[in-house]
Amino acid sequence: MAKSKFEYVRLFEFDDRCLLNTWIVVRVDGKGFHKFSTEHDYEKPNDIKALSLMTKAATSVMEEFKDICLAYGQSDEYSFVFRKETQAYSRRSAKLSTNVCSLFTSAFLYYWSEYFTSSRPLYPPVFDGRTVLYPSNQNIRDYLSWRQADCHINNLYNTTFWALILKGGLTPSEAEQKLKGTLSGDKNEILFSQFAINYNTEPDMLRKGTVLVRRKVPVALPNGGTREKSQIIQEHIDIIGDEFWDKNSHLLSIS
Ligand code: GTP
Ligand code: MG
Repeated sequence: MAKSKFEYVRLFEFDDRCLLNTWIVVRVDGKGFHKFSTEHDYEKPNDIKALSLMTKAATSVMEEFKDICLAYGQSDEYSFVFRKETQAYSRRSAKLSTNVCSLFTSAFLYYWSEYFTSSRPLYPPVFDGRTVLYPSNQNIRDYLSWRQADCHINNLYNTTFWALILKGGLTPSEAEQKLKGTLSGDKNEILFSQFAINYNTEPDMLRKGTVLVRRKVPVALPNGGTREKSQIIQEHIDIIGDEFWDKNSHLLSIS
């Protein structure tokens, strides 16, 4: 078939295929979720319903994109790690980030009413998405450590901040002033001495975020036996130390 004279405009598209042999991470992050969480009455400092909905949306993404070997989420963000050798969308950066981000956003909306009492949010939620490449195993581990450390720092701050307000009767600006310049030990001490909260016994999901991995689990067969089936499992564990990676060495090795 003859090409139209307009065909040349395709040449303006550029090749954004990700470098071979690198870890591809797509991270999605809620746009303006400070406001979104307030307007939708998210519980402070953490709303289990909202965090569970984020994990449900992330699970939908992993069910669709089989080359995602691990996802990590906290607050209003989720990171998706593609296998180093993935050929999904010929490794085209925008294809990967837009498809992941779009599915995540639509799943967040699709499952909203299963987690909140309203049938839908007050306005359409928005998530941004980006693709970042990490060349070495150390880099990808450091990336995930960075996100989990961020979860810990923010959660300790928010837990103390909201305890001072909701249980201590301080105003937000008084609480902010009290926490200015404090180290993590100081915040642990405030929580323990003023509110009898031992931060270390707060739920793992809040302190560590959520890791999604595929694991083989036995499923019952109609005739009574069992067979192994790959399922997406959520874990709330440390991914900064070596233990997780020693136990899951398959994640970092090329298959
Ligand atoms: P942009 O991402 O730059 O658009 O800004 P943002 O407003 O989304 O802020 P950011 O992504 O840095 O942080 C996420 C914000 O979402 C937090 O600061 C909280 O205000 C809010 N948030 C996330 N999870 C929860 C939750 O479980 N409970 C409450 N109350 N707020 C939450
Ligand atoms: Mg955000």
